[in-house]
Amino acid sequence: MATNTIKSFLPQELIRKKRDGLILNDIEIGFLVRGISDSSLTDAQLGAFAMAVFHNGMNMDERISLTQHMMHSGSVLQWQDLNLNGPVVDKHSTGGVGDKVSLMLAPIVAACGGYVPMISGRGLGHTGGTLDKLDSIPGYNATPDEAQFRNTVQQVGCAIIGQTAQLAPADQRFYATRDVTATVESISLITASILSKKLASGLDALVMDVKTGSGAFADTYNMAQELAQSIADVASGSGVPTRCLITDMNQVLGRSVGNAVEVLECIDFLVNPAQADKRLLQITLDLAAHMLHLSGIEADLNTALVKAQNALEGGNAAEIFGRMVSALGGPNDLLQEPSHYLKPMSVIKPIIATKGGYVSAMDVRSIGMSMVSLKAGRIKASDSIDHGVGLTNMVQIGERVEMGQPVAYAHVHCDADAIQLQRELTASITIADENPQEKNMIYEVLTAQQEG
Ligand code: URA
Repeated sequence: MATNTIKSFLPQELIRKKRDGLILNDIEIGFLVRGISDSSLTDAQLGAFAMAVFHNGMNMDERISLTQHMMHSGSVLQWQDLNLNGPVVDKHSTGGVGDKVSLMLAPIVAACGGYVPMISGRGLGHTGGTLDKLDSIPGYNATPDEAQFRNTVQQVGCAIIGQTAQLAPADQRFYATRDVTATVESISLITASILSKKLASGLDALVMDVKTGSGAFADTYNMAQELAQSIADVASGSGVPTRCLITDMNQVLGRSVGNAVEVLECIDFLVNPAQADKRLLQITLDLAAHMLHLSGIEADLNTALVKAQNALEGGNAAEIFGRMVSALGGPNDLLQEPSHYLKPMSVIKPIIATKGGYVSAMDVRSIGMSMVSLKAGRIKASDSIDHGVGLTNMVQIGERVEMGQPVAYAHVHCDADAIQLQRELTASITIADENPQEKNMIYEVLTAQQEG
């Protein structure tokens, strides 16, 4: 466990130890994290340390230490003083294309008695970010001060906001260095990075959505399993019960990709769940059920699922979403007048199938990159986003299309952008004569190893 003992070392000696495959103890890891925060560790040393961990990994104790020290490098939210009458619970997704689940999930769980202080990230590379989607709502303040954030969670039951500079600042510097030193793809470092931020929000329970497939960060199933197990073990070892669902990202999630268009899909989902995309509905309700079950709101997973369904179908989740938007500065009537606030683009054009058959595969990463090229996503953290650009009415794997029928609609600024998307999506979406086997949405649920 993390301690506050301060002891001095030579950074290069600790880097050498990790380079040579040895184990760092909690005090040594604490020293390195302090060096990240106060910049006594140089960028070169940080990059070298990241590479040493990348090659040699960290054992469970080291991962827990790194997570805990990075979590305590900034403020850790406390909720006890608010005397909330339910548990504080959250979900984190490793990201994908069209992953808008948080926007419906947080209000569903809040409607069932949970409190969800959800701190989300911006999109990077081919994956979209919840925060960018919320930024398309005029007036929505995704960076409220702590008092407004806590007040919204207390009054409404959920608040979805962006990462603050106070939350796990050591991770912010470490992640930026990893990004430019080819050391992001380390299970140990990803685990500590994600969990230092999530655990700093003072949770009673956490559900992780670890995505795998062509649009996921973990593109192989092995990597997703390794990451999910590592996260479950480290989070539970840090005292926060955590369950990881490994879910499919071999096709765009839901029917839209972009920012404003995804918020519109979420509003439709909440207001009219009977019409919701079936896979999006399944994953949202299943994640909600796991959050209600793991946090102790419901003792039985099936009962939790029914409760989540009722909160959605009865309109309570929609009402909470509307209240959250309003409490964070957005319009009071977003649910009633969505297209007034999320205005359509000047060009909306069908992307048509160039042959008939069954949609059999999607290169989801390429679809995400097509969006990035039209500025619906970003390459660098500092890039700005065009919130209106997107795709709607996306076909799903297993659906039949005839030649000339739309496989999606492009929401863009000009015909040239629509023509570009026609060309790129034709290459990214495979249409075959055979109907492919239906893939599961949820592959596996993992808990900490010691829980069995
Ligand atoms: N997301 C994070 O927050 N950190 C990582 O290291 C990878 C993905």
